[in-house]
Amino acid sequence: MIHLTDIKKIYKMGEVNVPALKGLTLTVKECEYIAILGPSGSGKSTLMHIMGCLDTPTEGHYQLEGRDVGSLNRNRLAEIRNEKIGFVFQSFNLLPYATALENVELPMIYGKMRAKERRRRAEELLALVGLGDRTRHRPTELSGGERQRVAIARALANDPTIILADEPTGNLDSRSGAEIIRLFNRLQEQAHTVIIVTHDVGIAEHAQRIVRLLDGVIVEDTNVNNLPQVQNLREVQKEEKI
Ligand SMILES: Nc1ncnc2c1ncn2[C@@H]1O[C@H](COP(=O)(O)OP(=O)(O)OP(=O)(O)O)[C@@H](O)[C@H]1O
Ligand SMILES: [Mg+2]
Repeated sequence: MIHLTDIKKIYKMGEVNVPALKGLTLTVKECEYIAILGPSGSGKSTLMHIMGCLDTPTEGHYQLEGRDVGSLNRNRLAEIRNEKIGFVFQSFNLLPYATALENVELPMIYGKMRAKERRRRAEELLALVGLGDRTRHRPTELSGGERQRVAIARALANDPTIILADEPTGNLDSRSGAEIIRLFNRLQEQAHTVIIVTHDVGIAEHAQRIVRLLDGVIVEDTNVNNLPQVQNLREVQKEEKI
């Protein structure tokens, strides 16, 4: 579903070129759960931004579900992002003055969903992440782990096939981190492709596959365990959509 071929990303800082990705090739199959590990500055966030259509590579090829992302214009990219991809950021990126419910509703406002339906789905998603009793709380009235769960509920709003999470547990204590990881495990079981960036090897081991980055290239790509193939799960579960 994701095919990256010889991706290079060079940031231009005035006269200076900063190479962040130096020819990276990666294939991600449907319903895979991948952890991306690597030291600070190795290009993890850059890679996530490219996979999430938030940024474009300087060189190389990106195919997402058979479409050549490089040939799409900005509007089409934004559409794909909205339809297919849910982002979870380390810093949560929630609107501070909006309630949990309003934060989760936000991505649906750009869609065509009616207000009542939007509210119902936001309530459902908050219940799914265990925050059914916190819908009226604003981010400052929630714990770090709860904020991150709101961010995950928001990422799921448009029923994306791919969840991209950049250090989703970075700001959390180990217990809240473990809760978030269980949530990602569940999402994968419900036929989502999950890709997380983490510094924490313990967290990475919950994934099926670990991709290690160093200095803008992949230096290791390992399958963690022999979990059953979930390739066709999305088909099976289409009816019981969350
Ligand atoms: N917008 C930018 N402009 C210029 N250089 C950038 C930009 N974003 C990232 N870089 C540089 O590209 C390299 C890779 O950055 P990236 O953010 O992808 O690293 P990372 O692996 O996510 O690191 P961390 O673990 O610290 O988040 C770094 O050397 C960084 O300084
Ligand atoms: Mg980063």
